Parts: sequence; structure tokens; C-alpha cells
Amino acid sequence: MAYDPILFSIPEAFESRRLLIRAPILDDGIKVNEAIRESIDDLLPWMPWAKTMPTPEESEANIRKARLKFLERSDMRLLILLKENGKLIGSSGLHNIDWKVRRFEIGYWVRSSFGGQGYITEAVEAITNFAIHELQANRVEIRCDSKNIRSYRVAERLGFTLEGIIRNEELSVDGSLRDTMVFSKVRGVEF
Ligand SMILES: CC(C)(COP(=O)(O)OP(=O)(O)OC[C@H]1O[C@@H](n2cnc3c(N)ncnc32)[C@H](O)[C@@H]1OP(=O)(O)O)[C@@H](O)C(=O)NCCC(=O)NCCS
Repeated sequence: MAYDPILFSIPEAFESRRLLIRAPILDDGIKVNEAIRESIDDLLPWMPWAKTMPTPEESEANIRKARLKFLERSDMRLLILLKENGKLIGSSGLHNIDWKVRRFEIGYWVRSSFGGQGYITEAVEAITNFAIHELQANRVEIRCDSKNIRSYRVAERLGFTLEGIIRNEELSVDGSLRDTMVFSKVRGVEF
């Protein structure tokens, strides 16, 4: 019988040492919009969606759609908040999900004033463990522009294996051709 991922019981929140990592809920859009506004100059070179600063209403609509997708298990946005005060310090998630293969790709960005403190490394480690233990992942992937040094350092720091660099794979935000680094951890090798 065909199975439907919407029936899977999946926790909506989990913690690491300093962070609360959770699915989006109603009204998160305002917090996300503030974080994007503060970080737009750092996001612009790497994130196609950051070409135009969204309005708070657009961010709220985006959050509500992300919640719907989380519930149908088609894409799992995960917001990153500080446990000590609830401040939203970045966003991540499990994307390009293949439930039959149990393959997940982790994406991430940090709120600029919270960069350089290991928060994203900590979040990606916790999300990788969540994928392995709660979602029975067979493959967890990180893809990034080969010029995005800060991004590929996160994958390296966490012991992801660089499988290869796909040349001229797509266009960068500035329209130039980009090479994409593909990192992964797979069951039976890295975990
Ligand atoms: C990619 C991105 C999230 C990386 O942010 P970051 O702040 O470098 O990542 P972390 O939060 O893991 O912090 C790591 C840095 O903190 C330092 N650090 C301090 N305390 C640390 C700790 N406890 N653990 C790990 N690192 C720590 C590390 O040394 C590292 O600094 P370094 O690179 O100068 O050595 C950020 O550059 C970003 O948002 N870029 C724009 C969006 C983007 O490109 N997303 C990825 C698309 S593929």
C-alpha cells in the first residue's frame, strides 16, 4: 500500500546547547522580516530570494506557506532561536526531500549580528541528527556555491564529505555561471 508522509509523526521542535530549533508558526513572519532586513546585504550575494527586501506581510505569507509545507512534509523550514531570550537568529530547514530514498538537503542563513559565533554550525549539527534519528535519513546533503567560503566551512566543520563540484551547474544571483559543491553524510559511512 502507498504510504503518505503526511501521516508521519514528526516533532515540531528540538534543542541544542544554545538553540531552540522549530517549525514556523503563525506571526513568525514579523521576526523573520526583521532578521532579513538586518542581514540583506550579506544574503544578497547568495540567496536568490533576497534580491528584493520582502514586506512584513510577504514574510508572514511566506511563513504560513512554510508551515503548510511542513505539515504536508513536502519541505521542512526550521527557524533558529536563542534559548535564553527567544531571539530569532537565523533560518534553516530540510529541503528537496525524497521520502522514499529518505534524502534531505539542509539550507541555512544567519542573522548578520549573530554570525561568527558557531550558531549555524550548532544548528546544522542538530538538524542533521534530527534527520538521522527522527526521520531515518539515509542521506543528508549540503549544496553551496564554491565561492561561498563561509557556507562550505560549515559543512567541512561538521565532517560532511565533499562528493564533488558540479561545474557550471546554475546561475549565481549576479547572473554568472556557478560551480556547486556537493557535501553529504550517508548511512553506513558517516553515521
Ligand atoms: C553561511 C553562513 C550561515 C555562515 O555563517 P557563520 O557565522 O560563518 O557560521 P557559524 O554560525 O557556524 O559560525 C562559524 C564561525 O564562528 C566561529 N565560532 C565561534 N564559536 C564557535 C563554536 N562554538 N562552534 C563553531 N564555530 C564557532 C567559527 O570559527 C567560524 O568563524 P571563522 O569562519 O571565522 O572560523 C553565513 O555566512 C550566511 O548566512 N551567509 C548568507 C547566506 C548563505 O550563503 N547561506 C548558505 C547558502 S548555501
